[in-house]
Amino acid sequence: MAKERTLAIIKPDAVGRGLTGEILKRIHEAGFQVIATKSMRLSKAEAEGFYAVHRQRPFFADLTDFMSSGKVVVLALEAENAIAKWRDTMGATDPAQAAPGTIRKEFGVNIQNNCTHGSDAPDTAAFELSFFFPSHDLL
Ligand code: CMP
Repeated sequence: MAKERTLAIIKPDAVGRGLTGEILKRIHEAGFQVIATKSMRLSKAEAEGFYAVHRQRPFFADLTDFMSSGKVVVLALEAENAIAKWRDTMGATDPAQAAPGTIRKEFGVNIQNNCTHGSDAPDTAAFELSFFFPSHDLL
């Protein structure tokens, strides 16, 4: 299979608890190549733009408050089957449902404060990568 790219975010709950290094270690151990990375704090408007697909959901206001509440680390990851592979490494959205050994199972607090984000399909990966990184950062 050809190499694929996905967008990963280490969320404010994980950065705030000092879990960035542990999560980066797991990314490397899983075999991803890190193509680009940045540390930043999203504005509320940026969080709303990033999660626009969820704007009708009841958790949208809380989610965008949370995602703009502190620093995040954003990564462009590459691997064979990267989208599914990163979702497997993270575990299910709700840490209570996540498989043993996954990031969300071990470190997630609840369905919102779930440590990490990952793109869910090729079209969302393309949108999400371009949301954070100009094309020359992804060469
Ligand atoms: P993420 O993978 O970043 O995608 C959307 C986010 O919304 C999700 O992780 C959670 O952090 C948050 N969220 C909060 N409540 C829910 C819910 N009930 N279902 C799905 N996602 C939720």
